Amino acid sequence: MNVQILDSKTAIGSAVCGLICDKIREKPDCVLGLATGATPVPTYDALAAAYAQGTVSFRNVRTFNLDEYCDLPKTHKNSFYTFMQAQLFSRVDMNPANIGFLDGNADPAAESARYTAAIEEAGGIDLQLLGIGRNGHIAFNEPADAFSQESFRVALTESTRIANAGYFDDVPMPRYAITMGVGLILRARQLIMIATGESKAAAVKAMLEGPVTPQCPASALQTHPDVLVFLDPAAASLLS
Ligand code: GLP
Repeated sequence: MNVQILDSKTAIGSAVCGLICDKIREKPDCVLGLATGATPVPTYDALAAAYAQGTVSFRNVRTFNLDEYCDLPKTHKNSFYTFMQAQLFSRVDMNPANIGFLDGNADPAAESARYTAAIEEAGGIDLQLLGIGRNGHIAFNEPADAFSQESFRVALTESTRIANAGYFDDVPMPRYAITMGVGLILRARQLIMIATGESKAAAVKAMLEGPVTPQCPASALQTHPDVLVFLDPAAASLLS
């Protein structure tokens, strides 16, 4: 894996934005796998700025997001779909028909099959953006006894529910999410993992230097041929 340590979240956002813009220029209808959470926001800010400056167009880009809450209306203020609309899609010339999202209110098995087929129909994901959880989770693949494959419905851990409960003031915090599985994520041609902050240092060490084990889902990236990892010094602080 190619690991780059950059000084700040902004520097990382700018670097990842440059890679995404290069990919879009090379392949205007490229297929991007996108992530939610705080980590990718500097990248989305940089992409919005690049579009505003007229240096990139999302007109023909297709996207697939990693995960979504279950039992929450798609347009609820806290859905991952709403997050992506606010952070990226409404800020660039994305064609709504090209936005791929897991439906947290559909039958999970049918939705999993639909999503896998839709990604295959699009020709596979060219570039998958990833964050990492403090316990080494990617998307909502929590530590487990086996690596997941296709998308599936997962019970959110108490730590995840507690971390996000504050945002849910009008409806109960969801107990489940639907997530792309590790196997499906690894089928992307290129992965870009971003981790920043002290809280991710242990997970980053396990991801890069630990054994490949489903107890640290991110360690599966060691088996992928084309992974770029962007860290700030704090997230890299435990690496040997
Ligand atoms: C959440 C998301 C992941 C995300 C991770 C880290 O659980 N399901 O996709 O990468 O937690 O989030 P953040 O980037 O806010 O630290």
